[in-house]
Amino acid sequence: MSSITLTSGASFDCPPGTSLLDAAATSSITLPYSCKTGRCSTCKCRVVSGTSKLLQPEMGLSESEKQAGWILSCVRTAESAMTLEAETLAGVTLPAVRNLPCRVSTLERVARDVLRVRLRLPPTADFTFLPGQYVDITGPAGISRSYSLASASVQNKTLELHIRAVPGGLMSQYWFEQAQPNDLLRLKGPLGSFFLRPAADRDIVLLATGTGIAPIKAILESLPGLDTSERPRSVTLLWGGRSETDLYMDLRPMLLPTVRYIPVLSRSDASWTGARGHVQDAFLAEPAPLDNIVVYACGSEAMIKSASEAFQARGLSPGRFHSDAFVCSATPTPNAGSAT
Ligand SMILES: Cc1cc2nc3c(=O)[nH]c(=O)nc-3n(C[C@H](O)[C@H](O)[C@H](O)COP(=O)(O)OP(=O)(O)OC[C@H]3O[C@@H](n4cnc5c(N)ncnc54)[C@H](O)[C@@H]3O)c2cc1C
Ligand code: FES
Repeated sequence: MSSITLTSGASFDCPPGTSLLDAAATSSITLPYSCKTGRCSTCKCRVVSGTSKLLQPEMGLSESEKQAGWILSCVRTAESAMTLEAETLAGVTLPAVRNLPCRVSTLERVARDVLRVRLRLPPTADFTFLPGQYVDITGPAGISRSYSLASASVQNKTLELHIRAVPGGLMSQYWFEQAQPNDLLRLKGPLGSFFLRPAADRDIVLLATGTGIAPIKAILESLPGLDTSERPRSVTLLWGGRSETDLYMDLRPMLLPTVRYIPVLSRSDASWTGARGHVQDAFLAEPAPLDNIVVYACGSEAMIKSASEAFQARGLSPGRFHSDAFVCSATPTPNAGSAT
């Protein structure tokens, strides 16, 4: 058992073979996380002292980040007493994670490669979530994949998912070729730490590509219910796709009048009169200062990576860039070794 101290002052014990992330959770310390498979880098933290050991490959870190002492807490265990610099979600109580059966209620093709799926929970299910979180769904063949909640009606026990077809994907094949209303699935969740932090007086920038709009939609839907003292000072939403059909739903009717919405296309034809390029570049092209903004980005790994680099190059601190990368959620083959 190794003793772990966070620079914020909290401490916990890490048993051999248990990830630092899970060991912290056992001691009721919530560190940020998303994929839990070493890909998305949401759980990135810096080693101040001590040594750790890999449980799975750290695919979400660059060589220079590894050299600078960064590790991914979801795929590393401690080898000695350690001191870590990590964001903690102190003061946030995450809803309890449930394992529940659920049934497909409706399947609606909203774009050539996107399905809107509604799932029905049992009438007695006790399920709540923080807008932005995701669930793991296990399909009939026992394959499990992560999907963000686009919306959830606790009263009606229904959950909304937006699912993009990944060519050759195992779960995509189920959703797009086999799924039928009333199919029985299993759900684990809510999961992840992608949700709106206290935002009073902040200028919030929401970036989404493709089905990355799902958790952003849930966050947008939650804004009217926030106490006025908790509401952001301003909200700018940028949703990007290649062509107009990638922006598969009309968001305008659900937006508060104070939300500024900028659709962005990267491969539009001449008829498109809106913003062009990538969502992060469309925002950063404006001369507005970044000192009061907090960014929430969701969608492709490529967008998250370049957005994070672009905002940091303009001086935004990493603590004000929250993201949920839709990395491949299949579990990689364990590969122990490599201490630092
Ligand atoms: C936290 C989280 C939330 C997610 N939320 C959503 C969501 O709301 N909507 C949604 O559509 N997807 C979401 N995803 C992605 C989803 O979980 C699956 O990984 C994806 O749908 C592919 O699953 P599959 O079984 O069809 O493909 P797989 O059988 O897992 O993969 C097939 C092939 O495609 C590649 N691949 C897999 N996933 C991706 C990807 N995302 N991008 C590019 N290549 C890939 C694999 O490397 C493999 O070669 C989320 C992922 C995470 C980690
Ligand atoms: S890399 Fe650790 S949660 Fe994604």
